[in-house]
Amino acid sequence: MILLQVSAEYAIVPGTMGRALITGASAGLGAEFTRQLAADGKDLVLTARRVGPMEALAAELRDTYGVEVDVLTADMSEPGAPGRLFEQTRQQRLDVDFLINNAGSEGPDLIQSRGWDRHDAYIRLMMTSVAAMCHEFMPAMIENGNGRVINVASVAGQLSAPGDYSYGPTKAYVIALSKALASAYRDQGVYVLALCPGFTHTDFHASERLTEMKRGMPRWLWYDADVVVREGLTALEKGKSEYTSGRLYRLLVPVLRLRFTQGLIRLFGVKI
Ligand SMILES: NC(=O)c1ccc[n+]([C@@H]2O[C@H](COP(=O)([O-])OP(=O)(O)OC[C@H]3O[C@@H](n4cnc5c(N)ncnc54)[C@H](OP(=O)(O)O)[C@@H]3O)[C@@H](O)[C@H]2O)c1
Repeated sequence: MILLQVSAEYAIVPGTMGRALITGASAGLGAEFTRQLAADGKDLVLTARRVGPMEALAAELRDTYGVEVDVLTADMSEPGAPGRLFEQTRQQRLDVDFLINNAGSEGPDLIQSRGWDRHDAYIRLMMTSVAAMCHEFMPAMIENGNGRVINVASVAGQLSAPGDYSYGPTKAYVIALSKALASAYRDQGVYVLALCPGFTHTDFHASERLTEMKRGMPRWLWYDADVVVREGLTALEKGKSEYTSGRLYRLLVPVLRLRFTQGLIRLFGVKI
């Protein structure tokens, strides 16, 4: 496939007029994806639960980059949310050729947090909705022989950390799903990437517990969202199916996955 280099960082297939749809676009990595794609002239569909921040961002992107931006509210933990989003894009004739499944949050403790409904909703947000969005939006991409999908996972999905029975396992599923889809459809012009960031400055750690955790951590473990997004977009165009963003994490993750290191982690009860 011939790719048109539209920026030094990544490329978009020439002649495609489709939109990029970004979930979790009201903050953090999602908002950064919208900025970098808009800077390259891509029209967008933003979705999340909070409409205020998305409308403000949409106005900024239209003014700064002259791109078309639509805002659709959706709670991705609700059953049927991906199907409803897909229908809305069809009714409004918003052709999506670039999907970014980015919405996500910290999870409740599978064992300690009582009441299955919360866990069910969390699994819908982190796993079911990602699969359902691929199910809804990928067939048209495959038919057109052109499409891009980034599923935002995490290094937590590449590791097994003591005490993480919710977040990490959901991200492991996202990685496995993305790799399977990537190998099946790359030759048909549809690239799928599981992007695995390490600790990144966003609103993700805004809760009291995670703010406290962040305060106690060395600054060098943290990356800015623009670096993570730029590396992700570049890795996608290189045809990668799984990419760990940040040089530090690319060095660290293989070491942490060694059986010896895993044993030490279990022995000393270190939480990653
Ligand atoms: N920050 C990190 O250190 C880090 C590291 C690895 C991976 N990640 C992953 O990166 C992705 C983005 O997170 P972030 O760091 O950018 O966090 P963030 O700043 O808190 O943004 C999370 C986004 O997800 C949306 N969201 C949360 N729950 C939702 C729901 N039920 N329905 C629809 N949208 C929902 C939020 O929008 P609304 O609240 O408006 O709905 C927000 O736009 C997540 O998948 C996260 O797991 C983050």
